[in-house]
Amino acid sequence: MKTLYFITGTSSGIGYALTNHILSTENDVLVEGISRTQAIHHQNYKHHTFDLSEIDNLIGFFGKLDLEKRIKTKIDKVVLINNAGTLGEVGYVGKIPSQDIIKTMNINTIAPFVLMNEFLHTFDTATFGNIEKVIINVTSGASQRPIDGWSSYCASKAGLNLFGEVIKEEEKIVNQNTQIFNVSVGVVDTNMQGQIRKTKQDEFSNVKHFKELKKNNQLAKPQFIAEKIYSIIQNPQNFEDIWQKLQ
Ligand SMILES: NC(=O)c1ccc[n+]([C@@H]2O[C@H](COP(=O)([O-])OP(=O)(O)OC[C@H]3O[C@@H](n4cnc5c(N)ncnc54)[C@H](OP(=O)(O)O)[C@@H]3O)[C@@H](O)[C@H]2O)c1
Repeated sequence: MKTLYFITGTSSGIGYALTNHILSTENDVLVEGISRTQAIHHQNYKHHTFDLSEIDNLIGFFGKLDLEKRIKTKIDKVVLINNAGTLGEVGYVGKIPSQDIIKTMNINTIAPFVLMNEFLHTFDTATFGNIEKVIINVTSGASQRPIDGWSSYCASKAGLNLFGEVIKEEEKIVNQNTQIFNVSVGVVDTNMQGQIRKTKQDEFSNVKHFKELKKNNQLAKPQFIAEKIYSIIQNPQNFEDIWQKLQ
């Protein structure tokens, strides 16, 4: 079975671990990765160096990839993983640059919205038949509660969650063989956690707790999270709720 994956944020952390896990587990696979830097080189991997804050360039994204010319064999399943994300500048509202609010919302929210829209448009039933489609949005517990210093991050992930929930409702009506999950990954030992630990107490009151998590070895390894996400993609029918908490 040929599976085609589109994964954002493949250059580090969870996206890097997940992409490597897929490439080492499956043979009949093609992964199209998106991030500003390329870290993976593999015969079944194609990288698109792309800044997801430049959202206008995402319009018609899948059409521009020339998939019909490049992929000769039949595709049975397509997977979109909106993983790329930024914490944005940590600090209290009134003290963060407005430009950073726009950038964070573009990367975490608007880019995934546009990609999901383009994905469902490109791989619609009329063109691709009843092809299986899976969408994974990498989200956070921060989308469900206010955290001081993380305003754009919390709000951006909350928006992402709700957009996904609407797709799930629409799928019940249109039946396009699409399964969607908002995957809350918990605390994971990646660059993003490093950025959190570097913030000052007056920018984020709970920074000490995050330093302790690292000190006490309480952050999950990206590989552990990658395997959990992969099991959802492999057997989406076993996971009923859109909200999946991984730890
Ligand atoms: N780590 C945690 O504890 C934690 C907790 C909850 C949720 N998450 C979520 O997990 C996801 C992955 O983050 P991570 O923890 O693995 O952090 P990470 O190591 O910092 O990875 C972030 C990825 O996003 C990409 N990215 C960032 N800005 C981008 C841009 N403008 N254009 C294109 N790609 C961009 C980065 O690639 P380039 O820099 O090469 O562009 C990188 O590949 C994020 O959505 C994050 O919100 C993480």
